[in-house]
Amino acid sequence: MGDRPFPMFIKKRKVTRMGKDVIIACDFSSREETLSFLDRFQEEKPFVKIGMELFYAEGPAIVRQIKQRGHKIFLDLKLHDIPNTVKKAMAVLSRLEVDMCNLHAGGTIPMMEAALEGLTRPDGSRPLLIAVTQLTSTDQTHMQKDLWIDRPIDEVVMHYAENAKKAGLDGVVCSPLEAGKVHDVCGSGFLTVTPGVRFADGEIGDQKRVATPALAREIGSDYIVVGRPITQADDPVAAYRRCWKDFVE
Ligand code: C5P
Repeated sequence: MGDRPFPMFIKKRKVTRMGKDVIIACDFSSREETLSFLDRFQEEKPFVKIGMELFYAEGPAIVRQIKQRGHKIFLDLKLHDIPNTVKKAMAVLSRLEVDMCNLHAGGTIPMMEAALEGLTRPDGSRPLLIAVTQLTSTDQTHMQKDLWIDRPIDEVVMHYAENAKKAGLDGVVCSPLEAGKVHDVCGSGFLTVTPGVRFADGEIGDQKRVATPALAREIGSDYIVVGRPITQADDPVAAYRRCWKDFVE
């Protein structure tokens, strides 16, 4: 990551929250690649994120298979459509027994409310539902030039987080740098799930608003989502353990 400084002005949280976990983004394009990657983990069962690439390649079967192996699953499909369509899609996803799924807060409060309704099973249970605020690959310049949103990005993220809370969702996906402020605005029980995690000595890639696992912990993330720093590491298990040690222990 070179000499890029991590911002130190971010408000840090004092209370260590329970239930912190490291979620590995399994951004692979086939079942074989994914399962052989997961086979490397003999001593632990990491929480796994299945995103669009793997889901579109292998469908619901891969979700069931990974679940059967005993992993918790965050199904990261980032739904964004009219409320009725999202509600029906969420009803289908809730049958997969995943632990967490998500949508774009940009879909508005009615869409988020409809999603929650669709996700809730007849017995009242449901996976956690998390809203994406602004993608961690989006920065202020992109937001202004491409999306014509002129407000500062942190205000936009907080506004979207408040909308998600109003709609009854469990938390947001946001940059680790925003996690402390989200807790201030939406309460400590409102979950922050944070991609954009990089080791201080690693590559940033296309992410813009990044933090190390240790800084994410200090700021108050509840879950860090880590992809390439683990999946592309020479020793993925060691990289996972490094994240775990810095973020959870
Ligand atoms: O490889 P890397 O650590 O950048 O992976 C981050 C993962 O988190 C990717 O699967 C990406 O799709 C996802 N994600 C993100 N930013 C968001 C929401 C999800 O990077 N706001």
